[in-house]
Amino acid sequence: MEKEFKLMVAPMQGLTEAAWRSVHFRLFGEGQRDVEYFTPFIRVEKGEVRARDLRDFTSGLNVGMRLTPQIIFRDVEEWRMLVETLATNGAERIDLNMGCPFVPQVRKGRGAGILNYPDKIAQIANEMTHYTDIQFSVKMRLGVDDPGEALALVELLNEMPLRHVTVHPRTAKQQYKGNLLLEDMKAFSSKLRHPVIFNGEISTPMQIEELAQRYDGVMIGRGILARPSLFAEYRSGREWSVKDREEAFLSLLRNTSSVLEDILCGSAQLRDKMKPYWEYAPATLDKKIVKQGKKSGSV
Ligand SMILES: Cc1cc2nc3c(=O)[nH]c(=O)nc-3n(C[C@H](O)[C@H](O)[C@H](O)COP(=O)(O)O)c2cc1C
Repeated sequence: MEKEFKLMVAPMQGLTEAAWRSVHFRLFGEGQRDVEYFTPFIRVEKGEVRARDLRDFTSGLNVGMRLTPQIIFRDVEEWRMLVETLATNGAERIDLNMGCPFVPQVRKGRGAGILNYPDKIAQIANEMTHYTDIQFSVKMRLGVDDPGEALALVELLNEMPLRHVTVHPRTAKQQYKGNLLLEDMKAFSSKLRHPVIFNGEISTPMQIEELAQRYDGVMIGRGILARPSLFAEYRSGREWSVKDREEAFLSLLRNTSSVLEDILCGSAQLRDKMKPYWEYAPATLDKKIVKQGKKSGSV
């Protein structure tokens, strides 16, 4: 049987949250029910699992979609608290954030910061064996400062019972810009025994097709915010016209805004929540519409 190529929507704080996901799933999920969504990372704050983060996973808006919660942690204690809470709330899969490049998180050893602590990763690997009902996956970068750092962790990762490893082929130092380190990615992924999901700078169906030759799946963030029909286009083998893609972008925002209207308190909150989506408007969209959208948040 041919191996299934996996399509995933990346976790993005403030963006790919329950309201946006539910609308994306409703508008573009038809015929691609297997597309997997991830919550933005769920964290421990002041010794407890942050309630707001958890609500994004337990929200009724998630019904019907394939959703995996993601956690960020600095040690096995935080990891256990998050996993226990999610297990209690029905999680069957959990993704481990080992790639967030946000400096305050990295300094505290969370996100990509944990890549510098193989001993902590080993403790977590050991702890994982106690949770046989949960399927774990990892999302990571090639290192904090140096792309060789991931390579040094390969054996440890191979020993973990993982569904897949998603790799963003940059270091944390690069943040979200600069060259993708494709040679280092190749060296790393060829040694990984788990399925490898490619993440980074994917914006066209053609790119997905090319990556399907080499990887087990793709995870897309900014590209899908700008072109929400990307997976539908890839699956159908037919690119949508620029006009249809622009309409898809606007329709997603319009619908997300009306879902949020019922959740948020007042127009100022709604405007602040909607604003970031406009940063990802398709380059072809009329600049006046984008400017107005950024200013007012509305569609
Ligand atoms: C605003 C923003 C928020 C993000 N939040 C998360 C997050 O919560 N968890 C995570 O693993 N990655 C997060 N990421 C990283 C994305 O999931 C993804 O790895 C990154 O954008 C690169 O993929 P892309 O080029 O397809 O966008 C975030 C990125 C951005 C720009």
